[in-house]
Amino acid sequence: IRTRHWRRLGTIENSFREGGDSRSRDTSWQRIITCAVLGVTGSLIAGFLVLHQSGDGMVVLAAQDETLDHRFYQVPCSEDYNNHRRFAGCTPRRCGRAVSDAVITRQEAEKMLRVAEAGFSLGGSDGGASILDLHSGALSMGKHFVNMYRYFGEKLHEILTEEDFQLYRELRLRIQSEIARTFNINASSLYLTKPTFFSRMNSSAAKTTHDEYWHPHIDKVTYGSFDYTSLLYLSDYSRDFGGGRFVFIDTVSNSTVEPKAGRLSFFTSGSENLHHVEKVQWGTRYAITISFTCDPDHSIEDPTWM
Ligand SMILES: *[C@@H]1O[C@H](CO)[C@@H](O)[C@H](O)[C@H]1NC(C)=O
Ligand SMILES: *[C@@H]1O[C@H](CO)[C@@H](O)[C@H](O)[C@H]1NC(C)=O
Ligand SMILES: *[C@@H]1O[C@H](CO)[C@@H](O)[C@H](O)[C@H]1NC(C)=O
Repeated sequence: IRTRHWRRLGTIENSFREGGDSRSRDTSWQRIITCAVLGVTGSLIAGFLVLHQSGDGMVVLAAQDETLDHRFYQVPCSEDYNNHRRFAGCTPRRCGRAVSDAVITRQEAEKMLRVAEAGFSLGGSDGGASILDLHSGALSMGKHFVNMYRYFGEKLHEILTEEDFQLYRELRLRIQSEIARTFNINASSLYLTKPTFFSRMNSSAAKTTHDEYWHPHIDKVTYGSFDYTSLLYLSDYSRDFGGGRFVFIDTVSNSTVEPKAGRLSFFTSGSENLHHVEKVQWGTRYAITISFTCDPDHSIEDPTWM
């Protein structure tokens, strides 16, 4: 258990720390040119759709006060996928970013928020960023993580119910279908992968590198197994918290998806989708990161109620 525990922590830590230096490794000219092309194309797409811009010049792909049925922004795929085994009918051939407020209802998001609040009430980081992973049991506590299944055992039954786990699984399946439909792949060739976790962020200063969620990073570089990343927001930007917008970083201009309870955002995990989360300025931001891989060797199971 200890080994497994620490290996997990390594992953989480890398996720926050590697973000900063993941780009410095990609120094070849080819990379630079690809990035420039992606950036220009991204901006052209955004410009073409005449999306509104916020005061700071950021293109707003989805504003908090909008309700979107389905919005898709195609971006050319990076070559990151070639550094891994390719899976026909799953590995992205068409890349992009999608946002939908129609997949998960606000009521379902509220239920998930209650699950998150209940889980986090048992622990929480001393810094501004806590994670709760129902799969591995990892929960931020102080400057460390505990395995909440071991640490709290039976007491968890008073906190999390079987229905909570059922809803989590149901939402995960719905998100998986939506990703498959959007990218024109077979949903059964996609697998849940790790880390998949709840996050809670506030404006407290970081105490350890685990708390530094704001570094730009590429999921495929950070985690390897990721092919499609999805984010389900459980709270509202500008109502529940300030700052904390999700930002795609492109060379010409950046673009944001403003979090909204029940909003699903998903994208291909390669460097075509370099991104970061802005520092939260006030309030508390809740979200779930649900990650998918095409590689069955990296699949994880749904969490089960013990
Ligand atoms: C942020 O959350 C932590 C718990 O993880 C809490 O101790 C702290 O007071 C919160 N900070 C603010 C500014 O609300
Ligand atoms: C989807 O994939 C599964 C297993 O990989 C296969 O059994 C099924 O026939 C596929 N469905 C379609 C429509 O291609
Ligand atoms: C995009 O965001 C990154 C990271 O915050 C920042 O360094 C860069 O200056 C931004 N680009 C533009 C065009 O504003």
